[in-house]
Amino acid sequence: MALREILKYPHPILRKKAEPVTEFGQALKELIYDMAETMYAAPGVGLAANQIGILQQIVVIDVSPRDDKTKLIPLINPVILAGEGSDVSEEGCLSVVDYAADVKRFTHISIEARDPEGRKIAFEADGWFARDIQHEVDHLDGKLFIDRISSLKRSLYKKKRRKQLKEEQADFDD
Ligand code: NI
Repeated sequence: MALREILKYPHPILRKKAEPVTEFGQALKELIYDMAETMYAAPGVGLAANQIGILQQIVVIDVSPRDDKTKLIPLINPVILAGEGSDVSEEGCLSVVDYAADVKRFTHISIEARDPEGRKIAFEADGWFARDIQHEVDHLDGKLFIDRISSLKRSLYKKKRRKQLKEEQADFDD
């Protein structure tokens, strides 16, 4: 197992769409282990492969810190088939440094995916679990939660991030 580097906004790979996984072998399992280790070390409650620079439709989720019904769940090629209800709650992202904002999501979703063995799975999710899945599936589409906030909030965040990167660059030059 190995920790992977988490790419940070505005890294261009975060804006690319991930491709469906077609090979369900040992390499995929090792990648899932690395993603889980990287997520727990961060620490975070979800991670999409795009965030470590791999454009494949793989996410790992563990919302047990917030909802003790769940544990580590890897989803391969996940598709949200349907959603209902809506709820606004604060979200953050390991790729969006020092920022959190309210995001509207479905409260209840139906999902279809593959497990790491390639078997088809289908289930329903609610609450934080449903929110987390929607956030991670967005990553696979090249979307970030800041795309789902007001343009004013987004431009304020961009300004803050630009300043932060400039300061980091200045530290680096010293
Ligand atoms: Ni995220």
